[in-house]
Amino acid sequence: MRTFHDKRAFVTGGASGIGFGVVKALAKRGAFVVIADLRTDHIDRALREVREAGFASSVAALQLDVTDRAAFAAVAERMDIELGGVDVLVNNAGVGVEGPVLEAGYADWDYGLGVNLGGVINGLQSFLPRMIAHGRGGHVVNVSSLAAAVRMPANFAIYAAGKAAVLNLSENMREELAGKGIGMSVLCPAFVRSNIHEAALNRPAHLRQGSGFTLSEATLLDRPPGDDWMDPEVVGEIVADGILANRLYIMTHGEFRDKMRERHELLMSAVPEAAFQY
Ligand SMILES: NC(=O)c1ccc[n+]([C@@H]2O[C@H](COP(=O)([O-])OP(=O)(O)OC[C@H]3O[C@@H](n4cnc5c(N)ncnc54)[C@H](O)[C@@H]3O)[C@@H](O)[C@H]2O)c1
Repeated sequence: MRTFHDKRAFVTGGASGIGFGVVKALAKRGAFVVIADLRTDHIDRALREVREAGFASSVAALQLDVTDRAAFAAVAERMDIELGGVDVLVNNAGVGVEGPVLEAGYADWDYGLGVNLGGVINGLQSFLPRMIAHGRGGHVVNVSSLAAAVRMPANFAIYAAGKAAVLNLSENMREELAGKGIGMSVLCPAFVRSNIHEAALNRPAHLRQGSGFTLSEATLLDRPPGDDWMDPEVVGEIVADGILANRLYIMTHGEFRDKMRERHELLMSAVPEAAFQY
């Protein structure tokens, strides 16, 4: 993809944080962008901001829970009918599910993996056949995390597991998609100013029952992002550049290079020098 002019983009979790940063970057560069988000309060705030910034005609929004497969499929069909299909899909919606893994209930696994991995899978299943069918090619960005590439501190096992799967599937799908004229990138950010600490507010009622993370998520609500964390608009510009360059890995935070190297060296140190004799 050489330009965003006259392109249609679809950004899940696009009403806040990183997703909204991507929405603004793509809209400023000429795309028409559809925000799909669970939270109507986030959608209202985002639409107010785009109106005040003067690019309301480039952005639309709808409510979608990315774990709802039937709703996702219906929205993809609607995008075909109303927009003639989507050129850029950003599977960004995610939740900062966080807590001691030995206290986790199935509700915590289902919540964390359901949104952070299942939401990406549902986006791919709903949109890829349609993107291939319209024949214009396109690009997909899956939002993973630095948590997929470094060893994380305690409490991140479920979050990191979902993000590692997103990193892996993006690496492994890229070649198959390239044959269809569709690029695939995976974004692995570290700290970005957002509402990721509001996991408790995004958790559906049926996954509150049986959760071992109630206390952790309540504590997290009182821990807003640091002032020195990256501005999501900066991330949005990095993502837009990454799409145009058809970059597989879109990385944002250089200060974690040593942490990444440490993990890769540990992995390599466990690999035998000699090849297995079959
Ligand atoms: N902020 C960071 O430091 C950071 C770091 C690494 C990765 N990430 C990832 O970036 C992505 C965006 O997160 P963010 O930090 O901007 O957080 P955020 O909470 O500000 O934005 C996420 C948006 O997703 C929406 N959402 C949550 N569950 C949803 C669902 N089931 N269906 C549809 N929308 C849903 C929320 O309403 C919210 O508007 C996530 O995948 C997150 O894991 C964030």
